Order: sequence, then C-alpha cells, then structure tokens
Amino acid sequence: MKFFVDTADVAEIKEAAKLGILDGVTTNPSLVAKTGRKYREVIEEICEICKGPISAEVLPVDYEGIMKEARVWAKVAPNVVVKIPLITEGLKAVVTCAEEGIKTNVTLCFNSIQALLAAKAGATYISPFVGRLDDIGHEGLDGIREIRQIYDNYGYETEILVASIRHPIHLRDAALCGADVATLPFDVFKKLVKHPLTDAGLAKFLEDAKKIPKGS
Ligand code: E4P
Repeated sequence: MKFFVDTADVAEIKEAAKLGILDGVTTNPSLVAKTGRKYREVIEEICEICKGPISAEVLPVDYEGIMKEARVWAKVAPNVVVKIPLITEGLKAVVTCAEEGIKTNVTLCFNSIQALLAAKAGATYISPFVGRLDDIGHEGLDGIREIRQIYDNYGYETEILVASIRHPIHLRDAALCGADVATLPFDVFKKLVKHPLTDAGLAKFLEDAKKIPKGS
C-alpha cells in the first residue's frame, strides 16, 4: 500500500519524507490557501522534496479551462498528477488527459458509480472521500469495498486513493478493503506508529536492562 501525505505545508512534507516511507503528496485549493503561498510555487517546491506523484488541482470547471490548466500543471514537473473534480466536464478532460499521457487524480468522489465513470474515462487515481461521508452519517468505507470489487471485476487499473482520512482506523480499514493508496493528513501520519503499550513496554525493557550484568 502506498502512503501519501495530504498537505500543502512544505515543512510537514519534509518531516514526513524523513521517515522514508512517503510515496507521494496530495494537495487541494483549501490546503494551499492555508499556506498563504502561490499554488505553482508550492507544487514546484514539493516536487523537489518528494519524487513520487504530487497532485495539483485544476480550478476551472469547464472542459477547455480544465485542459488548459492540466497541460500547464503537467509541464511543471514529471511527477505532477493533475487533480480533476468528478463532474461531467472533468470526466471529458480525464479522457483527453489519458490520450495525451497526462496522469490524473479524479477528486471529490462519493460513490462507486462515480468511481466506475472515472475508471472508464482513464483516470490514473480515483479519490473517494471517506471522512466527509462519515461526517454526514454514511459509512465511507462501504464505497471503498464496492470500488475495489468493481475495478477487480473489470480489470480497471485506476488506483484507489482513499482520501479525507480522519484517523488511523480509516487507514486500517482502507488497507483491509484493498485500497492502493491512502492520503493522510500529517497529524494522522504521525499517529500511525503510536501505541501506549509500545511506549510502556519499551520503558520497562530499558529499566530492566539496567539490571543486566555488564560484560560478555
Ligand atoms: C484529497 O485529496 C483531499 O485533499 C482531502 O483528502 C480532503 O480531505 P478533507 O475532507 O479532510 O478536507
């Protein structure tokens, strides 16, 4: 399973990259707005830090506008993946991007039918949002199970990139469903390794180690 970090904060990406298990980065306009920086400048810097896929989102919502911006993003760096919203105009653009060899991440996916359309259009990644569905009382992970089954039924190669992750249990469940990628907010990324029994167990081992006679 691949781990992406879902942030536009360069300091967080550098920190996550130090762990050695970071495979890519996703951004969106809300995350970039929080940085107070220009979108292109942020993406260029992220592409230097992480050589894996870096998602940069288009802002127009019409086919021509999306394609114009997609072509610009694709030239920024070879690892840029163009993030396109799951709307009719967006799907048309995904088809053209696939024809032109531009990698895409279809975002704002909230059910398996939308995910099927994205795969048919030739998306590189589909981003189903689990947390936002949970927030309104739905079971976000049900959609991931359905998408996995549908993609496997027909041999679609579109990768399932689970997004809108709120806590480590979302990651565990996404992995159990066979998702290809999870994109994690940095605070969730840091929590993954933590278990109180690990900390307590290590403290006890280190304490007991002091009682071991020295020498060979
Ligand atoms: C995905 O690529 C999005 O950037 C992100 O996961 C959205 O998450 P949110 O629901 O926490 O905003």
